[in-house]
Amino acid sequence: MTKAKAPRVPRHIAIVMDGNGRWAKARHRPRSFGHNAGRRAVRETIEACLREGVQVLTLFAFSSENWQRPQDEVGALMSLFVRALDKEVDELHGHGVRLRFIGELAAFDDALRERMQAAMERTAGNERLQVNIAVSYGGRWDIVQASRRVAAAVACGELRVDEIDEAALGQRMSLAGLPPLDLFIRTGGECRISNFLLWQVAYAELYFTDTLWPDFDQACLRRAIEDYARRERRYGRTGEQVANAS
Ligand code: IPE
Ligand code: IPE
Ligand code: MG
Repeated sequence: MTKAKAPRVPRHIAIVMDGNGRWAKARHRPRSFGHNAGRRAVRETIEACLREGVQVLTLFAFSSENWQRPQDEVGALMSLFVRALDKEVDELHGHGVRLRFIGELAAFDDALRERMQAAMERTAGNERLQVNIAVSYGGRWDIVQASRRVAAAVACGELRVDEIDEAALGQRMSLAGLPPLDLFIRTGGECRISNFLLWQVAYAELYFTDTLWPDFDQACLRRAIEDYARRERRYGRTGEQVANAS
């Protein structure tokens, strides 16, 4: 009997883009040099997703915890985001990419927030690939903001307490309405989630690689997808049940 395999190409991939600092350190350059070098890896990954037919790519660019980094590094990252938005949006739009920013956007200054908003509006009609960029994002924050919205719906009589279920919370999370997360990738060698998509990661396939983010390229993504294609997703059932169902 053949084993039930996950569909070959994940519909939704999320990536913790880690290792920029170590990549720069190995070259005796400042950490910001590594962050800047990571831009090429983002472009490569988006190109590979377009080619492979991935529907949604969610990238962890800046965590709620990253605000604790030295001020000059945070500042360098903010100006990198501004430069990247000014330079890359046209091309992404031309490729049919829909851009979305998720996270506590109110934490950013007006200039950056306006650019994010403009990029989202400009690309809103695109359907080829949705790229979500998580900035000032934390998985716990996401669950808290969804809970707050549930509470508000109860307070105004839109929702009853006994109607609160996984769907009620799930449809108020940042990535509501998108295909479930299939493949969670982390570069840079650490085997942890670091407060990324806590709710959405529940049944994602996890893939950790030692490759530092600036070195990640289309071949690396292909390897991750090939690894994913060999997984058997059981969702609590037995292998036999899964095989018989397919
Ligand atoms: C990831 O690379 C980028 C951000 C967190 C913004 P790091 O800056 O964490 O790189 P390492 O982990 O120190 O090598
Ligand atoms: C996670 O990487 C955040 C991003 C890649 C944006 P970190 O480098 O901040 O994670 P920790 O601190 O090693 O867990
Ligand atoms: Mg790191």
